[in-house]
Amino acid sequence: MVTRVDLENTYEKAKAAVAAATSLQQLDQVRVEYLGKRGKITSVLKTLGRLTPEERKEIGQVANKVRQNLEGDIKEKQEELSSEEVIKRLAAESVDITLPGREHVYGRRHLISQVIKEITDIFLGLGYKVAEGPEVELDYYNFKALNTPADHPARSLQDTFYIRKAGAHPADNDIVLRTHTSPVQIRVMKSQKPPVYIIAPGRAFRRDVPDPTHSPMFHQVEGLAVDKGITFGDLKGTLEEFSRQMFGRESQVRVVARESFEAGIAEGGQQIRLRPHFFPFTEPSAEVDVRCFACGGVGCRICGSGWLEILGAGMVDPNVLIEVGYNPEEVSGFAFGMGVERIAMLLYGVPDIRMFFENDLRFVKQF
Ligand code: PHE
Repeated sequence: MVTRVDLENTYEKAKAAVAAATSLQQLDQVRVEYLGKRGKITSVLKTLGRLTPEERKEIGQVANKVRQNLEGDIKEKQEELSSEEVIKRLAAESVDITLPGREHVYGRRHLISQVIKEITDIFLGLGYKVAEGPEVELDYYNFKALNTPADHPARSLQDTFYIRKAGAHPADNDIVLRTHTSPVQIRVMKSQKPPVYIIAPGRAFRRDVPDPTHSPMFHQVEGLAVDKGITFGDLKGTLEEFSRQMFGRESQVRVVARESFEAGIAEGGQQIRLRPHFFPFTEPSAEVDVRCFACGGVGCRICGSGWLEILGAGMVDPNVLIEVGYNPEEVSGFAFGMGVERIAMLLYGVPDIRMFFENDLRFVKQF
């Protein structure tokens, strides 16, 4: 039979267990152990019927008291633990709003890539396809096939980087960094029959000392159209349409430009100008100026003369067509090559070509 002392000892143990509980789960285990259906105190209460009336009175009172006390203890501890748990959870979830934020750095296209994309998009709209060729090129594609044999004086206009295997003879000058994107013309024509309508954007290299308008590495976009009955008029019309879209279109940075350019057109003004020039691979050849989009052609700080030189062009020399296996009696074509940095400098007022390649984020982020 349980005595009063037994019950009191049980209560002390239960109380200690309640106090030691560190989580609601542990506390519930204590509750079940003592007050559950088969709990230590519950079972005492269940046996009361077997006692004498006096015993029942005494033990019953003590047992009920112990149960009540323990229930009270558990309830108190429960409240304590659940508020602790809430605080813990909040602490784990909370954001310290006094910490400085983390900056997300967004990348962007480099201005040169943006301009290449603009140029490319215009010609894609005119039905051209994009072609590519290697930057490390054979002398054959860069010069010879473009009607520029080894002793041709025009070679001196393009100071060239030569690539040589270690220990190779100094006269072994077969591999070059391409000095222009024109070798892509040869590669494309050799790989397909006419008609050809391609543009070839990419890097070119010349042994130039860097200065505000020269960089040993720069970008060009080559254009080539070969088909039956292509004339110089087609070249002019194509370049005119290109200039209209490139320089005369509406955009935030170029509202002024567009207005003066469109004003020029409205007056029946001439928008592009071809000056006779020489390239070994085109005949006749021209350098092409566009009417200055900043001043409309009167002459300003950007252009000086009212005109801006943007590219070289001409009718594909019959020697080049023969070299690639085309018949100059059947097809004719035009080609042009424009300097991307040059156009970007003019459009965005960049004063020094070296700024494109210094990778100063303060510059790069402006565009
Ligand atoms: N390749 C020439 C240059 O880099 C430009 C050009 C291309 C001229 C195509 C005529 C035809 O100067």
